Amino acid sequence: MDHFQYKNGVLFAEDVALTEIAAAVSTPCYIYSAATVKRHVDVFETALANIDHKIFYSVKANSNQAVLSLLAKSSVGMDVVSIGEYKRAIAAGVAGDHIVFSGVGKTREELRYALENGIYQFNVESENELEALNEIAISLGMRAPISFRVNPDVDAQTHAKISTGKAENKFGIPIALAPEIYARAAKMDGIDIKGVDTHIGSQLTSLAPFEQAFEKVKNLALKLREDGHKIDRIDLGGGLGIPYAQSNENPPLPMDYGVMVTEKFKDMDVEIGIEPGRMIMGNSGILLTSVIYLKRAVDRNFLIIDAAMNDLLRPAMYEAHHDFVPVIDQASSTNMDIVGPICETGDLFAKSRPLPEFNEGDLVAIRTAGAYGAVMASEYNTRPLIPEVLVSGNRFDVIRKRPSVEDIIARDIVPDWI
Ligand code: LLP
Repeated sequence: MDHFQYKNGVLFAEDVALTEIAAAVSTPCYIYSAATVKRHVDVFETALANIDHKIFYSVKANSNQAVLSLLAKSSVGMDVVSIGEYKRAIAAGVAGDHIVFSGVGKTREELRYALENGIYQFNVESENELEALNEIAISLGMRAPISFRVNPDVDAQTHAKISTGKAENKFGIPIALAPEIYARAAKMDGIDIKGVDTHIGSQLTSLAPFEQAFEKVKNLALKLREDGHKIDRIDLGGGLGIPYAQSNENPPLPMDYGVMVTEKFKDMDVEIGIEPGRMIMGNSGILLTSVIYLKRAVDRNFLIIDAAMNDLLRPAMYEAHHDFVPVIDQASSTNMDIVGPICETGDLFAKSRPLPEFNEGDLVAIRTAGAYGAVMASEYNTRPLIPEVLVSGNRFDVIRKRPSVEDIIARDIVPDWI
């Protein structure tokens, strides 16, 4: 459930008509619903209520400072993958010791900065990273809290580009080598082993791969305890999928995920961590766009909208489906290809999509765009990053302004020899 619903035939975000936001901010723009964000946090809290747990929101899904501040107020920790994201989390009021740091390529500078400024744990992804972290911690007279991210070699059955738990993927240490690597780490003066971590992929639409991976991680944790390691935490990563086509997709509910996790780990006396991103932000946001032109072709018709692949990359990058709905409710009566203005054939949002008879200037909402939308945007074709708006009840605030083209041009430096 989200808070983007029709009221008297007009699409609202909570208690604000999208027509009102379009008039004030103009299109394209992202619009988020604070109530939906908070609701998703509550859903996870309820799902895991029967087991000791911590939620680390995955900042990469949507890192606007207002969104992070809202989540920080709900007392969730954060999962970051760069020092940029770490600084964002801190700036939003998250304490360092509520932050986990993941990623295959954390630089020495990043490791040092996070260690000096506070961290819950590093999710270490290679032996080289372990050695670097150990050296840095010793030089600071500290011990770095770590879990190893293990790669369980499980097929997440999701899009190849967002599948991370197969042996061929770059992520984590191979689970078979884990006992040996933990033994090495246990001898290091700068390393403090806390637990085990995994993350097998994103937009998983079935619980089975999670279950398979978690079983392997559980067995590893038990073996590591037998070997004498203190394993107090198991971080299960993120990845729970959401329905992008609302009419016919039914991914597992957080409640079912929570029951499965609780069943599996309840006897282990361990703290469970999760790193949801998409589930929190995906359907908390829409991309509001307007029709520029309708274009007639021989065997199809195109709807040309003012948002493009630089604003929402997911369809071009992952052939991802997003629902398109009119802001003024009308029944669909025709099929059209929905495209943006960018000069690439790949700037295609949807093929042969049933749509109402739109006119130039009509408002269209692209649903489920709150996660991996604004954060993946670029200025390709010198299109300024689009504004973001946060709605709460009957108020809305611009939480990132639209820069001008002049701002973009002024960033470049022309050497004086030209
Ligand atoms: N933890 C780690 C270590 C991750 O790499 C990710 C996502 C998450 C947590 C959060 O996963 P989520 O709950 O959001 O599925 N740009 C792609 C998704 C990339 C996901 C990358 N890692 C997309 O638009 O579908």
